[in-house]
Amino acid sequence: MLEFEQVYFHYRKGQEVLRGVNFSIQAGEFVSIVGGNGSGKSTLAKLMNGLLLPRAGAVRIDGEPTSDPHRLQSVRQAVGLIFQNPDDQFITTGVRDEIVFGLENIRVPAAEITDRITQALRAVRMERYADSAPHELSGGQKQRAAIATVLAMRPRLILFDEATSMLDPHGRADVRRLMQELHRQGLAVVQITHHMDEVPASGRVLLLDQGAVAFDGTPGDFFASTDLESYALEKPFAVRVHEALGLTGSLSDDWKERAAAQWKN
Ligand SMILES: Nc1ncnc2c1ncn2[C@@H]1O[C@H](COP(=O)(O)OP(=O)(O)O)[C@@H](O)[C@H]1O
Ligand SMILES: [Mg+2]
Repeated sequence: MLEFEQVYFHYRKGQEVLRGVNFSIQAGEFVSIVGGNGSGKSTLAKLMNGLLLPRAGAVRIDGEPTSDPHRLQSVRQAVGLIFQNPDDQFITTGVRDEIVFGLENIRVPAAEITDRITQALRAVRMERYADSAPHELSGGQKQRAAIATVLAMRPRLILFDEATSMLDPHGRADVRRLMQELHRQGLAVVQITHHMDEVPASGRVLLLDQGAVAFDGTPGDFFASTDLESYALEKPFAVRVHEALGLTGSLSDDWKERAAAQWKN
């Protein structure tokens, strides 16, 4: 449903941030995007829903380029982004207003708005917080409100850009559970993360290095074939154990299942 074809991007001329990025994401996939600081992950995220447009190449959603101004609303609707800092995402003064603002932006008819608010708040278990102001919410609750705002738009892909990195362990677990739930319900989920222990929960890894895709494959193959340290990535616990035991080759499916299961309780 989402396709990057030979995408180039720079903020300042002569300083390429993305250089010829190619990949596509199918409906319902769960993908991790990893890479060192400054490798272009957040830039890539913003290209996914037209917040940024490619300087060359194309980003397409269902075959239509995000650069088509007539498609801007449907692009914003189809792909929702959740960012790192929960405080940067609140535009209005309350949870309900936030959802309404998002829906009005994509011109959802007024008659539909109440139902969508109820459903979205239920999905993130925030029904009781509809009238809360941002300062009355914890970091995790603010992220769940941001997720509700995106869900109310009924996207088909939701991307989390290090969305748990500023949360306490409880808030982090809540948001990770929601990712799993949304994936189970059929949404495509993309997580940008620097926690390698979170990667096995997904079915696919994209490694960005200096603005290009350096690996695209399963987590098992990724950990077996990639020298994580040379990309400034820390090895996950299970991989360190695997190596300490002197085992070689791809990690077993059994390990991958257990690693994925840790997020599913
Ligand atoms: N708004 C911006 N203006 C200018 N340069 C930027 C801006 N945002 C990011 N960059 C630069 O683009 C590169 C990639 O940044 P980013 O996409 O945020 O990487 P990552 O998320 O992988 O850390 C970095 O060199 C960063 O300094
Ligand atoms: Mg980033």
